Amino acid sequence: MSAVAHLNVPDRLILGVESSCDETGVALVSVPQDGEVRLLAHALHSQIDMHQAYGGVVPELASRDHIRRVVPLVRQVMKEAGQPLSAVDVVAFTQGPGLAGALLVGAGVACALGVALGKPLLGVHHLEGHLLSPFLSADPPQFPFVALLVSGGHTQLMRVDGVGSYQILGETVDDAAGEAFDKSAKLMGLPYPGGPHLSRLAAHGRSDAFELPRPMLHSGNLDFSFAGLKTAVRTHLVRLGWLDALPSPDDEGAQAMLADLAASTQAAIVEVLVKKTLAALKETGLKRVVVAGGVGANASLRYQLNDACRRRHIRVHYPELHLCTDNGAMIALAAGMRLQAGLAQATRDPVFHVKPRWDLSAI
Ligand code: KG4
Ligand code: ZN
Repeated sequence: MSAVAHLNVPDRLILGVESSCDETGVALVSVPQDGEVRLLAHALHSQIDMHQAYGGVVPELASRDHIRRVVPLVRQVMKEAGQPLSAVDVVAFTQGPGLAGALLVGAGVACALGVALGKPLLGVHHLEGHLLSPFLSADPPQFPFVALLVSGGHTQLMRVDGVGSYQILGETVDDAAGEAFDKSAKLMGLPYPGGPHLSRLAAHGRSDAFELPRPMLHSGNLDFSFAGLKTAVRTHLVRLGWLDALPSPDDEGAQAMLADLAASTQAAIVEVLVKKTLAALKETGLKRVVVAGGVGANASLRYQLNDACRRRHIRVHYPELHLCTDNGAMIALAAGMRLQAGLAQATRDPVFHVKPRWDLSAI
């Protein structure tokens, strides 16, 4: 009898809206009572081209662009999923952390949609979205696991025992790993966001060519510090006379040396991330690790971590490459998994307040 009743419960459709920084993301997922959340459609507009001229994100321009993009993206997603807007059961949106104005656009549109459709709303923590995003991959993880969360603004190691059970084991005391990539890349004259550009340049360089510090590698805890690395990169560039005038693209010798510096920088960041992750696995005794956030797209990090974990019989899970950086799918997914776990309730009160600063341990 109960099995029949269970079969009759239709999947809930959750629309997710992400607008915390420089990507507008919208997605529709289908959430069964229990079992895997399924991605039905998602669409993304990246503002990278717009911000590139300024060397970084301009918050006011980001907000204005989110306003332009979000409604067409919602239409596109519903069309791709072959569903009318009225089929949406819950409207989820990124409530924080992020840029206040940018968050307000997503929250405002989600609230307007919720009120217009008579459907409840759910605010989602952006980092929980990143953390759970590997559950949309072809090789989803199982709880418990160690999570290495490496985004543009955060670097954290966590013990994750289930949805909503996040224990911070260590985090950065200054710059995040993504910031270390971006700031070093900027010093090397690479476009914003520097991470992928530095990684491409590093592919042509020697990773042992420049001596760079491995900050806090032997600190005895699981915290990170990356600010000193950027200063060391700067010092090398000053010594080479390249800080204000980078070498000409025709100077092959100098370009090769710049690639060496990029490779050495990447190697320093990756070594610290891998070794601290291994230490977290040892400390917790867990045999599974999940990597999430934009830096999780880095090929060298994936290679080194996979190699180290294979030798220790540890499973590593990543989000699909296109879901490593910000997207709406992870927001709809996190909302779905929280609702499934009974940890959140969607509300019919428009949730117009956003949380630009919001600790993951406070959710
Ligand atoms: O998670 P994310 O999209 O945004 C935040 O929530 O912060 O992460 C963006 C960060 C940027 O610092 C970007 O440079 C970095 O991820 N990133 C990479 C790569 N792709 C993105 N860093 C290194 N290698 C990559 N392939
Ligand atoms: Zn993010």
